[in-house]
Amino acid sequence: MDDSVPRLEVRDVTVRFAGLTALDAVGFTVEPGSVHAVIGPNGAGKSTCFNVLSGVYRATSGSVRFGDAELTALAPHRIAALGVARTFQNIALSAHLSVRDNLMLGRHRLTRAGFVSAGLRLPSARREAAAHGERVTEIATFVGLAERLATPVGLLPYGVQKRVELARALCMEPRLLLLDEPVAGMNGGERRDMAELIMAVRESLGISILLVEHDMGMVMRLADAVTVLDFGRRIADGTPAEVQNDPGVVRAYLGAAAESVTIDGIDGIDGGAGTGGVTS
Ligand SMILES: Nc1ncnc2c1ncn2[C@@H]1O[C@H](COP(=O)(O)OP(=O)(O)O)[C@@H](O)[C@H]1O
Ligand SMILES: [Mg+2]
Repeated sequence: MDDSVPRLEVRDVTVRFAGLTALDAVGFTVEPGSVHAVIGPNGAGKSTCFNVLSGVYRATSGSVRFGDAELTALAPHRIAALGVARTFQNIALSAHLSVRDNLMLGRHRLTRAGFVSAGLRLPSARREAAAHGERVTEIATFVGLAERLATPVGLLPYGVQKRVELARALCMEPRLLLLDEPVAGMNGGERRDMAELIMAVRESLGISILLVEHDMGMVMRLADAVTVLDFGRRIADGTPAEVQNDPGVVRAYLGAAAESVTIDGIDGIDGGAGTGGVTS
C-alpha cells in the first residue's frame, strides 16, 4: 500500500433520510497531515458526515475522494483498507475483552495469515501474530495504556476507554483518522490529556485527522482548519480564528444555547478554555 497521506476531498455531499436533509451539498478539503475540525450544534449533520466518509451511510449524491479513490461507493471494510479509521461518538469496544484483545481486533484488516493458517498454528501465522502483538504494545505505550493491557475495557474509567478507542483506530495504521467527539463526557483534565494525545498523534505519525467536536476551546487549540455545519449546511470554512469571528457561526451557537440544545463551547467562542460544559 502507498504510505503517503492523500488529500480528502468532500464535494457536494447530500444525505437525505425520509423527509429530512441531514447534509445539503456539503464540501470541504482535508489537507494531508492537517487537523481539520467539523463543528456545529447538535443535529447539524456532523456524525452523518462521518458515517458517509466511513461507508456506514450512503450519500444521496456527491463525491468523497481520498487520493485517487472514490469512497462513496465503497463498503466500510474497503474504506478501512484504504487507511481510513474512525472512532464513534459512543464507545464501541468489547467491554468484556482486555485492552490488548480490543487492540488486536484493530489489527484485523492487516492480518495476512487468515483464519485457516492461524487455526492450524502454522509458524508463519505465529510469527505474524507476534509481530502484531509487538505493535499493539508499542501503540498502547504511545497512548499511555501500557499498564492496562490486561484489563477488561469495561472496568476502565470512561476517559481511559476513549483512549482505548483511539488506540484501536491507530492499530489500523490509518492515513486518515476520523474522531467523533473524542472528549465528549470528559472532565477538564481528561480533555487536556486527550488534546495532547491528538497533537502527539499528528506530530509523530504525520497522518490527517478529521475531528468532530463540540468543544470550541478544543477546536481552537488543535485544528488547522474548521468547517462549520448548521442544519446540514456548511455555514463557514476557514482557520479557527476566521471561523470564531464569523457572525453566522456565533449565531448558530448562541441560537442552539438559547434553545438549550447544547451550551458547550460558548465560552470557547471568546477564546476560553472550553472545558466543562454539557453535551446533551
Ligand atoms: N439513520 C438516520 N435516520 C434518520 N435520521 C437520521 C439518521 N442519522 C441522523 N439522522 C438525522 O440527521 C440529522 C443530523 O444528525 P447527526 O449527523 O447525528 O448530527 P450531529 O452529529 O451534528 O449532532 C438529525 O436531524 C438526525 O436526527
Ligand atoms: Mg453527532
